[in-house]
Amino acid sequence: MSLQFELRSNPKPHSESERDAILADPGFGLHFTDHMAVATWTAADGWHDSAIVPYGPFSLDPATAVLHYAQQIFEGLKAYRHEDGTIWTFRADKNAERMIRSAHRLALPPLDAEDFLCSIEELVAADVAWVPTAPEQSLYLRPFMFATEAFLGVRPAKRVTYCCIASPAGPYFASGVKPVSIWISTVYSRAAPGGTGAAKCGGNYAASLIAQQEAASQGCEQVVFADAKEHCWLEELGGMNVYLVTTDNELITPELTGSILEGVTRDSILTLAPEFGLTPVERRIAIDELLEGVGSGKVTELFACGTAAVMTPIGTLKNDVGSYQVGSGESGETTLALRQKLLDIQYGRTEDTHAWLRRIL
Ligand code: COI
Repeated sequence: MSLQFELRSNPKPHSESERDAILADPGFGLHFTDHMAVATWTAADGWHDSAIVPYGPFSLDPATAVLHYAQQIFEGLKAYRHEDGTIWTFRADKNAERMIRSAHRLALPPLDAEDFLCSIEELVAADVAWVPTAPEQSLYLRPFMFATEAFLGVRPAKRVTYCCIASPAGPYFASGVKPVSIWISTVYSRAAPGGTGAAKCGGNYAASLIAQQEAASQGCEQVVFADAKEHCWLEELGGMNVYLVTTDNELITPELTGSILEGVTRDSILTLAPEFGLTPVERRIAIDELLEGVGSGKVTELFACGTAAVMTPIGTLKNDVGSYQVGSGESGETTLALRQKLLDIQYGRTEDTHAWLRRIL
């Protein structure tokens, strides 16, 4: 039986003027809507107690398993308001499928795709006034699941909470679509073969933070990781996949080795590439090959991509040997054209030929 997410309305929602003030400049991940979706899983009863409830804090026993062993996963997707006022999600089925794969890796109970989609749709319906109207803004949705059994033994928890919160979002980077500089970390790894790199779990992001600090101390905005075994193959950034464009019109991204996140934006770009005369390629890319290509001009553009940041040009690469400017150091033409196409699909400004959009309201 599928879950129902009935609305238990927030008796103290933000006032219209408070909401308008937030929507005037939402930033990223700073403000949250009036409701959230919740459901509970227990080993005895499976998923139950699902509802849309007032947004608010959880009360957790200090022994709650997630606080000790990080048994947790999450997703990120957006709801877009089209010019005619209708609200849509983009490839939400992919997020639902990935959450099931992440749940499997973290020994959490799968939430049916139908229930995942229902939770999102009911939450957006409850908080529809929070879906921004301003261009390039959206309602960022953050579904997550975590072990809530109060127990210190190391085994999968017998009690789990699912929740989805929503946050009006402007650009992920305060600087907008300006090219970013990237530090190539060979000291720290994000994920290892057999590890959790392909799962969207908090631990992967926690592991990236020290490298992100290292990048900042080197004057870079982001970090890109090499593989954990040989430290020479390009993997991904702290929270985004990476792509390069070559003079042969190839659009190359590291192949999925099990330690790279299967990004929905990554996959969408692979699909869109031929429409731009580009050959999509998924293969191993040596860091040396990347640096040589950037040096010789064979690599003309480099960009990062993800749901939150969409596509972000990379203007400079840095490692402990030197600094390397990518192309002119400015946003590349191909990057900007692909980015525009993706946004045009998401905001309903061009035909959705791949049937990626799903109407919510
Ligand atoms: C997303 O792009 O939605 C993510 O989950 C990445 C996170 C770093 C914001």
